Amino acid sequence: MNVGRLLGQGQGQRSRAPKLDLSHNIILYLEDISVSFDGFKALNNLNLYIEAGELRCIIGPNGAGKTTMMDVITGKTRPDVGSAWFGQTVDLLTLSEPEIAAAGIGRKFQKPTVFPNHSVFENLELAMAGDKSVWKTLIAKLSGEQLGRIDEVLKIIGLTERVEALAGGLSHGQKQWLEIGMLLMQDPELLLVDEPVAGMTPQETEKTAELLTSLAGKHSVVVVEHDMAFVRSIARTVTVLHQGSVLAEGSMDQVQNDPKVIEVYLGD
Ligand SMILES: Nc1ncnc2c1ncn2[C@@H]1O[C@H](COP(=O)(O)OP(=O)(O)OP(=O)(O)O)[C@@H](O)[C@H]1O
Ligand SMILES: [Mg+2]
Repeated sequence: MNVGRLLGQGQGQRSRAPKLDLSHNIILYLEDISVSFDGFKALNNLNLYIEAGELRCIIGPNGAGKTTMMDVITGKTRPDVGSAWFGQTVDLLTLSEPEIAAAGIGRKFQKPTVFPNHSVFENLELAMAGDKSVWKTLIAKLSGEQLGRIDEVLKIIGLTERVEALAGGLSHGQKQWLEIGMLLMQDPELLLVDEPVAGMTPQETEKTAELLTSLAGKHSVVVVEHDMAFVRSIARTVTVLHQGSVLAEGSMDQVQNDPKVIEVYLGD
């Protein structure tokens, strides 16, 4: 590894790749995407369009392909066919996972992956460096701008009071928020969040709804979640996936009253 390069990345977290082309107001295009595992189609001709700044909820029964869809967007899984574009010009299928992250797509997995023996502050500092290598903290001196960003993110995630606390001592919900904060340190254009409120208390769930809602506009946010009350509380447009394709799309009321959707959920 080249330390100079690491340093450059660590100090330039906002100088990412060429500016994203959002001239058609669409940040993500998935078209005719299919993914098979041993002949089983986890995604089957999936088409999905996400507008710049929108907060989209994706629901669907277990095995519908929701996580696989995120795997395709982030480069973890390559589709057999189809296309995936980030804005007008970035072909996601030609980029590696780190390149996709650097291009401005952040992903939050279900299990929090904060560093338990580091403080909230240090976790955010580490995240700013670009990947989770301790090296960069050792070599990078924080600029005023970077300290300002940490401060800003602490406010967004509601952990200003816990800045000195060890991440391992936070509640489950606070760890999840910290991890969202770590993603925000990279200032992603698009945030993918898989089952954010699983295991949270009702109070934590409510705060998470506020947090994700507050991110929309500045970021585009795609949330996969099974908790319908939570989805209802944040949803504008809801997409229902079933057997690897879009079954329905619309407002929460529209999809919940859609006979196709009712059948899928009753049969689940
Ligand atoms: N790496 C893999 N190898 C084989 N099969 C897989 C793999 N990943 C996913 N699948 C299968 O693809 C289908 C879709 O899985 P996926 O995890 O995308 O569903 P999901 O909608 O996220 O479900 P859940 O709500 O349970 O998280 C499932 O049948 C799953 O078993
Ligand atoms: Mg899943």
